[in-house]
Amino acid sequence: MVNADKNLKSKKIGLFDSGIGGFSILSELFKTLPQAQYYYISDDAHAPYGPKTDEYISARSIEISQQLINLGVDLIVVACNTATAASIDSLRSHFPNFTFVGVEPYLNAYYKIPDSLKPSEKKMMVLTTVSTGKSERFKRLKERLDPNSEIDHFGLPNLARIIEEYYYAPTDFSLLTKNIDEELSFLKNLNYSYAILGCTHYPLVKKQIENALNVKAISPCSHVANRVVTLLDIDLSELSSEDFFYFLSTKNNNWIKNKRASILGPFQG
Ligand code: DGL
Repeated sequence: MVNADKNLKSKKIGLFDSGIGGFSILSELFKTLPQAQYYYISDDAHAPYGPKTDEYISARSIEISQQLINLGVDLIVVACNTATAASIDSLRSHFPNFTFVGVEPYLNAYYKIPDSLKPSEKKMMVLTTVSTGKSERFKRLKERLDPNSEIDHFGLPNLARIIEEYYYAPTDFSLLTKNIDEELSFLKNLNYSYAILGCTHYPLVKKQIENALNVKAISPCSHVANRVVTLLDIDLSELSSEDFFYFLSTKNNNWIKNKRASILGPFQG
């Protein structure tokens, strides 16, 4: 376990992503562990990670993690599938005594759908950034968890960017829906029943993805939050919660206090 101290008020959890995608995990942590303090770095000065090389993303992950460790966080959630795929091994070897929790496409989902369904009703795909799809870590994960290639993979070049842009300039919801529809148009009429969301930005627009493709979307965010609880060995009996979390965007490099209630911003509702 990371720390025998069960006083949640003293727990500090760091998270990072290339942007606001990790809010999908942070919002689950607010429900699961409301008492902890949260420090979130959005590496938007270097976003998107999707088209970048593993070396580039690893260097960014190490720099950001060092910044969070300097703040005294107890654990870091790499709240980004792309950064997890590219850099979690280097993070663990660079900071051998520190605990990192990564996020990976939830491929186990295939074995959790009811056996009673017909094969045509089980059709499942996993959607990721282009970089995650090309990574060795994703290939290994797919071979291990989906040895019979039941799940089809598709890389989406623009979806994370579309979501990020809308978060900061939420002018027209119908335009967001249109952009998502266009990005996903090549997947329409392929009769998938399920879509595993393999990028933390995607759960922020889960409903839009479900509507565009007529699928049930599957996200690992609550599992990641539960993993954090297990690793911190926390007593969940304390109920009070903080109102704020600390947020830093690498575009302006200032820590600001944000209201937790605003976390899902323009995607809420
Ligand atoms: N949110 C990130 C992920 O989970 C990546 C978005 C990007 O920067 O391409 O993969």
